Amino acid sequence: MRPPLAPAPKAAITGGPSPAIRHCRCSAMAGTYLCPADAVSYIEMRAPLPTAKLLFGVIMERHQIRPPRHAGWRDRFFAWCLERAGRKSNSLLADRKRLLFANLHGTVLEIGPGTGANLPLYPKTIRWIGIEPNPYMHDYLRNRAAALGITVDLRCGIAEQVDLPSQSVDTAISTHVLCSVADLPGVLAEVHRVLRPGGRFLFLEHVAAPHGTWLRRLQRWVRPLWHVVAAGCRPDRDIPAALSAAGFERIDLDCFRIPVPVISPHIVGMAVKALNSH
Ligand SMILES: C[S@@+](CC[C@H](N)C(=O)[O-])C[C@H]1O[C@@H](n2cnc3c(N)ncnc32)[C@H](O)[C@@H]1O
Repeated sequence: MRPPLAPAPKAAITGGPSPAIRHCRCSAMAGTYLCPADAVSYIEMRAPLPTAKLLFGVIMERHQIRPPRHAGWRDRFFAWCLERAGRKSNSLLADRKRLLFANLHGTVLEIGPGTGANLPLYPKTIRWIGIEPNPYMHDYLRNRAAALGITVDLRCGIAEQVDLPSQSVDTAISTHVLCSVADLPGVLAEVHRVLRPGGRFLFLEHVAAPHGTWLRRLQRWVRPLWHVVAAGCRPDRDIPAALSAAGFERIDLDCFRIPVPVISPHIVGMAVKALNSH
């Protein structure tokens, strides 16, 4: 096993839910606002010049102007792309995912399940709950579940605010989600909260390349554009550092690369909640 990619000082990461997450783009949550990250994407897309962006952002923030909640065509397009790209990424990652998902049982929470690429890899005996903010993913996922004969409890929401009681989940799962959540420490705090003591958080994510490498520089350069075209994804996110600051008792992770540009460095593994943790 190689050392974790891009280690960062623990002090740089702050745990706990973020008060910044007040809003959600989910169209099922009528009357809510976009989360700050989505508002930024909205501004980035609509205001081409840096000064205009800044002005637009300040005015929106000050007057609590609500951008259109739907981001309709973008979310719809992203769901369509993911449905097709999912097949390729699954074929690249299937073996690792199969190992990762061995021994699933009880209540399983999947955050950001997208169009349900992982569903074929789950045993039918689990109780599956999914939290997916993009409503255009839901039909793809439900159709896939129906074809597989799997019962799903799919909810529209964000992983920063999981509507489940504390200690009610045996296993939480995230694949290619932590790169795009608005508040990474907040999501990890929620995952930790809903896991029962001894529960496992299974993850497979792309991560920042090691500091000082040309790939890390490239990830930083392309980040603003990538963030907009890849639905909020940050290619240079230091996920191992955030995991190690999230209060889990044990983290086992393996680093590997896949043959794709920019986001080749990956981690796969699990974080375990302490038995005496609440
Ligand atoms: C790259 S896709 C991965 C989908 C799926 N996990 C897979 O492996 O195919 C990222 C997913 O995370 C979802 N997502 C983004 N922000 C989220 C948040 N704050 N909470 C939960 N899911 C989120 C997106 O809507 C999208 O479905």
